Amino acid sequence: MIDMHCHILPGIDDGAKTVADSMALLKEEKNQGIKKIVFTPHFNPERQNLEHFLAARDDSFKRLSSAEGFDELKIETKLGCEIYFSMRIIEMELSKLAFENTNYLLIEFPTNNRPYGITRTMQSILERGYTPILAHVERYEYFTDDPIKLYDLVSMGCIAQVNASAVTGNVSIKGVSPLQYINWELAHIISSDAHSIQKRPPDTMDAYKLVEKKLGSQYKEWLIKNSYDIFNNNYFDDPVIHKPKKFLGRWR
Ligand SMILES: [Fe+2]
Repeated sequence: MIDMHCHILPGIDDGAKTVADSMALLKEEKNQGIKKIVFTPHFNPERQNLEHFLAARDDSFKRLSSAEGFDELKIETKLGCEIYFSMRIIEMELSKLAFENTNYLLIEFPTNNRPYGITRTMQSILERGYTPILAHVERYEYFTDDPIKLYDLVSMGCIAQVNASAVTGNVSIKGVSPLQYINWELAHIISSDAHSIQKRPPDTMDAYKLVEKKLGSQYKEWLIKNSYDIFNNNYFDDPVIHKPKKFLGRWR
């Protein structure tokens, strides 16, 4: 299995602080059955210089990959980032923001208010041959209150990610649940968004088990296949998304 959203690189964001923290997180990833990881430290185009960020990320990765025990874990890794939404993204070199050797990039939105320009920015990224992966879509009330807004972005070609902890119900969710999104094929991958062993550990295994129990093994296999397709930069096609409809006050 693959984790494509985590804050494991040391000393670069609000995730792992030291190489020892990172190694503890990687060992837990391995316990969770994870064989491939995309490291996705936070990057804010409004506040950070891209070249400085990339240099800091390279340095952080070098420190981790030269640590004792790293090679023995036999986890295949790629560098990426979690980009805070800004219309500035479209002025930037997308190849530098994308997951290493792929055309996929991870974007998070502000939690409370739907920012101006999402649709236009996503369209522009897609037109340039890149695919936005929308991070933890269960977190935004403007999607959970009105899932048609997420449906519209997925219809355009965006991919949506949900956090494992949200799937297993360890965090409170209003409106539409992550399992519902997966069932509608409006969420395509599960990732950990791991930050620390104590507070936000790698936890994908239970989420996959729950998907299997509640939705069936074909959904679990579908989620895993999707993450392989992204990691390997395969073409991603999702022609069977369900358009949510409101009936008797509930989204179905
Ligand atoms: Fe994150």
